[in-house]
Amino acid sequence: MINYIFTAKGISTEQLSGFFDGWPNPPSPETHLRLLKNSDVIVLAIAQETKRVVGFITAITDHVLSAYIPFLEVLPEYRGRGIGKELVAFMLERLSNLYMIDLLCDQELQAFYARHGMVEARGMMKRNYDNQSGSPFPSSEHAG
Ligand SMILES: CC(C)(COP(=O)(O)OP(=O)(O)OC[C@H]1O[C@@H](n2cnc3c(N)ncnc32)[C@H](O)[C@@H]1OP(=O)(O)O)[C@@H](O)C(=O)NCCC(=O)NCCS
Repeated sequence: MINYIFTAKGISTEQLSGFFDGWPNPPSPETHLRLLKNSDVIVLAIAQETKRVVGFITAITDHVLSAYIPFLEVLPEYRGRGIGKELVAFMLERLSNLYMIDLLCDQELQAFYARHGMVEARGMMKRNYDNQSGSPFPSSEHAG
């Protein structure tokens, strides 16, 4: 059985192994926990028996008009059971008071998001690969 929660309070790094599958330089569980705590809205899928986090989705928002969804991931061994669908549904419900909800995804995943009423769009992005495992300090400090 999977439980869905909306806070990282009480979550430990031991519950956060196995994410960022396939990333050459993945964030550590400590960095992952920091990312979750610093996000504006999160949904976590937790396996009831093991207490392990098996899926997560995050959003960054101004709480006025816009939100961006940077991360959605379900652990490989838990995929194909509807957990990703639930995480997206919970997140879109939580953001439903906003005008713009954006994310980037591969073409093969567009049908997955279209089922939630999302539509295809063009976008741009930049990646600083040196920082793939996480910035050591908040971006505002970085900017000086
Ligand atoms: C994308 C992801 C979160 C989906 O999680 P999941 O729990 O396996 O998804 P669900 O079981 O809810 O799948 C819902 C539907 O989407 C489809 N789907 C899931 N992943 C898909 C993929 N990669 N490509 C195409 N369709 C996909 C499923 O076939 C399923 O369809 P069905 O209802 O007809 O069976 C998961 O594959 C994942 O973590 N991938 C790696 C990270 C990633 O790509 N994240 C998205 C970043 S934009």
